[in-house]
Amino acid sequence: MTDMTKTDTFAGRVALITGAGQGIGRVFAKGFARAGAKIAIVELNEDSGRSVAAEVEAECGAGTVIAIRADVADPAAVDAAIAETLEAFGRIDIAINNAAIFSTLKMRPFEEIPFDEWRQVMRVNVDGVMLVSKACAPVMRGNRHGRIINISSGVVTMGRPHYLHYVASKAAVVGMTRAMARELGADGITVNALLPGATFTEIERETVTPAQKTQILNMQCIKRHETADDLLAAALYLASDGAEFVTGQSIAVDGGTTFR
Ligand SMILES: NC(=O)c1ccc[n+]([C@@H]2O[C@H](COP(=O)([O-])OP(=O)(O)OC[C@H]3O[C@@H](n4cnc5c(N)ncnc54)[C@H](O)[C@@H]3O)[C@@H](O)[C@H]2O)c1
Repeated sequence: MTDMTKTDTFAGRVALITGAGQGIGRVFAKGFARAGAKIAIVELNEDSGRSVAAEVEAECGAGTVIAIRADVADPAAVDAAIAETLEAFGRIDIAINNAAIFSTLKMRPFEEIPFDEWRQVMRVNVDGVMLVSKACAPVMRGNRHGRIINISSGVVTMGRPHYLHYVASKAAVVGMTRAMARELGADGITVNALLPGATFTEIERETVTPAQKTQILNMQCIKRHETADDLLAAALYLASDGAEFVTGQSIAVDGGTTFR
């Protein structure tokens, strides 16, 4: 259940959230705003980014959010998005690398994935995480504080078939999380990955059939479907001051589907 309570836990903090125009990122934007953070939505789809910004503003007030249209795989666009966030809010404390090519993917044997599609998934899901983290790192270093939260996926642990590019990209995110944690820890910056299970949002997708939906429930210890709020709770923890000694981790939030 979404906690609608407003707090000042993250008052004075700024959270940059990629891909927050819908789905899980939308819930992150609203949840971090409710927890007192200022929000920069970095989203390829300009309309959806603006629409979520309007939702945040309606709930948390004018001046709490900006929506920036940017492709996370485009270095110049990422740099411009960071500059725009700094101009608006003066700092970046939390970066959530959530944008990915995901809900639009079609399931198919890996031999049938067009190479162009493979490259595009890598560009967004891997290059995007690197570029946004690279652009935020100097800002966080300057504050000697930062939280980078990378959204990977439980499919890495399961080896889920029929979207090999996606699985490969999310495995890369786990590796990058560990290596970035080592490189940034001395500057007070933590880097962690969340590995969601099958999470149902307002967006329809073809990657889970009704039969698979039932199967997923059978695999979970906790017998209800995962929601984006489950992930929000974990992200709020990782972003908190109390999590300053937790870094390099890959945390599965999947109702107990996988154990690492
Ligand atoms: N929903 C799930 O079951 C699930 C499970 C495991 C992991 N995940 C991961 O969680 C994250 C969010 O998932 P979701 O279900 O909300 O996905 P989604 O496909 O509904 O939303 C992705 C968002 O990213 C944006 N985006 C895509 N390419 C972009 C780019 N190049 N630059 C900027 N923005 C871009 C899209 O416009 C969209 O708003 C993704 O990283 C996904 O891989 C989701």
